[in-house]
Amino acid sequence: MRVTTHHISQMKRRSERIVMVTAYDALSAGAAERTGIPMVLVGDSLGQVVLGYDSTVPVSMEDMVSHTAAVARCAPSPLIVADLPFLSYQASEELALTNAARLLQEGGAQAVKLEGGVSVAPTVKRLTDSGIAVMGHVGFTPQSVNQLGGYRVQGRTENAAAQILEDALALQEAGAFAIVLELMPTEVAATVTERLTVPTIGIGAGPRCDGQVQVFHDLLGLLPDFRPKHAGRYGDLAEVIDAALVSYADDVRGNKFPTTAESFSAGTRGSGSSSSEKD
Ligand code: KIV
Repeated sequence: MRVTTHHISQMKRRSERIVMVTAYDALSAGAAERTGIPMVLVGDSLGQVVLGYDSTVPVSMEDMVSHTAAVARCAPSPLIVADLPFLSYQASEELALTNAARLLQEGGAQAVKLEGGVSVAPTVKRLTDSGIAVMGHVGFTPQSVNQLGGYRVQGRTENAAAQILEDALALQEAGAFAIVLELMPTEVAATVTERLTVPTIGIGAGPRCDGQVQVFHDLLGLLPDFRPKHAGRYGDLAEVIDAALVSYADDVRGNKFPTTAESFSAGTRGSGSSSSEKD
């Protein structure tokens, strides 16, 4: 049975910490499914970690729909939240509604996420009034990286911290079921978390949020040249992958792989028969 927004709300009420991770494809979605992660974000961070852009700005609706559908196919249990990409919701509430509907109907997500506070609250209300579950995102909002002047901690002054609280309250009032708090001082995130009845999900916002979200590739050390300070490190898989590829290449060059066609008789992808058997 799939996790619902109701389950996520109950977790805050029961003071149960909420785990969320990003997923973009069959591999990451399958891992989230196997390990019982309750909530998955098809983040527009796929712009950087999957598509090789230097920010989330170039990510399109087509990218988001296609990756969301891959995740939905491979993760039948977690609640799937899909990001509305840059400029897919700002121009009008109608545009936001059309694009959110695509993520749900074509992508198979159960909820959408969008960035911003007071200024997007009317859009969030329009979506939630139409029956769409919405997650908010305040503090550092990556789609505005050019306006914010880089990847910087937000809410450092009293006024900026008060604005973050006001933004989060406006999103809650508009019907958001949860809110991501990104890159802000621990105390600011703690205050927002205490003031809200909906769960907060932190990333670079300290330990006093109701839950945490991390980017799959950061968590697992898949991109050795890109390691944000706030990323938890639970693996160094780039090293494992590189070592395996080097061994493979050495074996092919040294004529050690493949040995015989029979060594592929079990466990191959697809029908379970080896490609040599099919040939
Ligand atoms: O796109 C993403 O991965 C996100 C997280 C950083 C919260 O929005």
